[in-house]
Amino acid sequence: MRLVHHEQAWLNYNTVCNPNYKKYATDVFCNQIDEITRSAISELRAAFQNLFDKQIVATESSGQAAIKLLIVRNDQLGIEGFQLDIKEDEVVIESQYSIGLLYGTFHLLRLLQTEKNIELGSIVEIPSQPLRMVNHWDNLDGSIERGYSGQSFFFENNEIIINERTVDYARLTASVGINGVVINNVNVRKEATQLITDRYLDRLKEMKNIFSAYGIKLFISLNFAAPMEIGMLETADPLDSSVINWWRTQLDYVHGYIPGFDGFLIKADSEGRPGPFTYNRTHADGANMLADIIKPYGGIIIWRCFVYNCQQDWRDTVTDRARAGYDNFVPLDGTLHSNVILQIKNGPMDFQVREPVSPLFGGLKATNQMLEVQIAQEYTGQQRHVAYLLPMFKEILDFRTHCDSAFDTVNDIVSGKTFDQPLGGIAAVINTGNDENWTGHDLAAVNWYGFGRLSSNPNLLAEQIAIEWIKLTYGNDEFVIQQILSILMPSWETYEKYTSPLGIGWMVNPGHHYGPNVEGYEYSRWGTYHRADQRGLGVDRTSKGTGYSTQYQSLNALMYESIDKCPEPLLLFFHYVEYTHHLKSGKSLIQHIYDTHFEGVEEVASMLKRWRSIEDKIERKIYDRVLERLQHQYSHSTEWRDIICSYFYRKSGIQDVHNRQIY
Ligand code: GCU
Repeated sequence: MRLVHHEQAWLNYNTVCNPNYKKYATDVFCNQIDEITRSAISELRAAFQNLFDKQIVATESSGQAAIKLLIVRNDQLGIEGFQLDIKEDEVVIESQYSIGLLYGTFHLLRLLQTEKNIELGSIVEIPSQPLRMVNHWDNLDGSIERGYSGQSFFFENNEIIINERTVDYARLTASVGINGVVINNVNVRKEATQLITDRYLDRLKEMKNIFSAYGIKLFISLNFAAPMEIGMLETADPLDSSVINWWRTQLDYVHGYIPGFDGFLIKADSEGRPGPFTYNRTHADGANMLADIIKPYGGIIIWRCFVYNCQQDWRDTVTDRARAGYDNFVPLDGTLHSNVILQIKNGPMDFQVREPVSPLFGGLKATNQMLEVQIAQEYTGQQRHVAYLLPMFKEILDFRTHCDSAFDTVNDIVSGKTFDQPLGGIAAVINTGNDENWTGHDLAAVNWYGFGRLSSNPNLLAEQIAIEWIKLTYGNDEFVIQQILSILMPSWETYEKYTSPLGIGWMVNPGHHYGPNVEGYEYSRWGTYHRADQRGLGVDRTSKGTGYSTQYQSLNALMYESIDKCPEPLLLFFHYVEYTHHLKSGKSLIQHIYDTHFEGVEEVASMLKRWRSIEDKIERKIYDRVLERLQHQYSHSTEWRDIICSYFYRKSGIQDVHNRQIY
């Protein structure tokens, strides 16, 4: 077994707290002892030991305990909500179920570390999304698809790993309110297909028990062709009775072995993965078949909408990959069974630095649905560049779909509120690995932390979340907070500035997706996807072009249709625009491209400067790790700037008005 060596990230409990809070570090009383409340007590014990050098225990009488964890009857708190009452000399956390007590405990510990003077009074928190999940793209051999932080800590050499890190992972995950984890890659390779067989069930059960003690549901990704790959059947047709029987036997067995197993995630008919289309069946046929089998166990099927034909020929100007999700899934609206959730990527393409929100949100009205975002920074600098993604996630969640409801934002829809759907939530493709600091780039941990916090409470501001994370990770020094905050807050837009402009996307090297390559797109055999020529660039996705804009509800369709009303950051996603076209700033498109690329590089230079200014206030090892990455980011951003600017200079033949050197 490999050595478990890892840091504690935002649970390091190194903060110097107001000494007055020491009064709360007494014994703790809980009126219900179970696996989850035990986790809460052990967290309090670890935290108080580190923060106040006080050893605490659980007592059986509430008398001398300053912290009381109470299971109570209060329907308003729902299943996972809690009420935290902070009084002068005691804290009472109440909830209907033990998971609320655990969340309340983490909340209290967060307040003790981040607030100089906690206000006395009551706080009620109820997570608004039913499912708050992370998806690991870990393979059983230990590699991670789009992983930028080392190898998997779940798998190694086709075995499941369980060690202290598994527990710390569960603690970190639950501490920010995440309640579901898919442990293996959506691209289920041969070995991972075996996860539902005897070979792995003992270990899976062990992992489920660890996760359960932190209120986390365990999911695995399934291979739709498993009946053929491990069942030796000749087909995987979801309506074939031998296939249905095979799945039933297999999944009954899994549920018998691991009672309460939570469910499965499936990627089908996408990028070479098998699926119902092979048999002329619909995705509803596929998803419902599996969902019906696991329904008696309370299981859930999460079915991804990332379905498109990567080989399509787009030269006819109406064929458009962006249309695929809507075209494939809207016709199925209302036909998916009640324990199926469709998981929809935030944009119609693939986690680009800027995309419009998928028109499936608001288009689907009678289907459980989840939003999928990516905190593994596949297209946003691969955790070698800083990109704080919460501002992007806020925009997505707050986006008004203008569907026919008073609650029409993406957040309303995925919480189930808009169409009164019982299931829904948010999933993130996660950015962790077995690197000592979990996320490769130390500053990338903010995206993991922030995703959890935002999915639990979408009203939080990106800035608030960043400040919390900085304080918990690096302490309460005001100068340090301000410097790191100033690095994080603009970083997504800084990355956008020196990479692909105004929503056009990609421009990365095919395959690994890192570094500039203007015409780089894996499926470019039909020409450049961005349609740049001597006059301009961009894709006409209006009704006169591919028609993608018409997939939105009418108010949004009208907005995107018009070159004047279209939000400028998405201009090239929706329109072919001439280089000489004047933007709202008064600048021409080409000048905007030049200027933003130069600005982006300058902004990275100032990030570096800010980081250097806190050298003596950050642990050496961490300081050096981040410095090294920021230096790389700086030189890589200049490479991006030069390649993009020179490409468009050569295409357009238009000089930079500032006469900067454009190679
Ligand atoms: C992207 C990514 C793939 C991944 C796919 C998915 O295309 O590059 O690695 O498999 O998304 O979301 O399924």
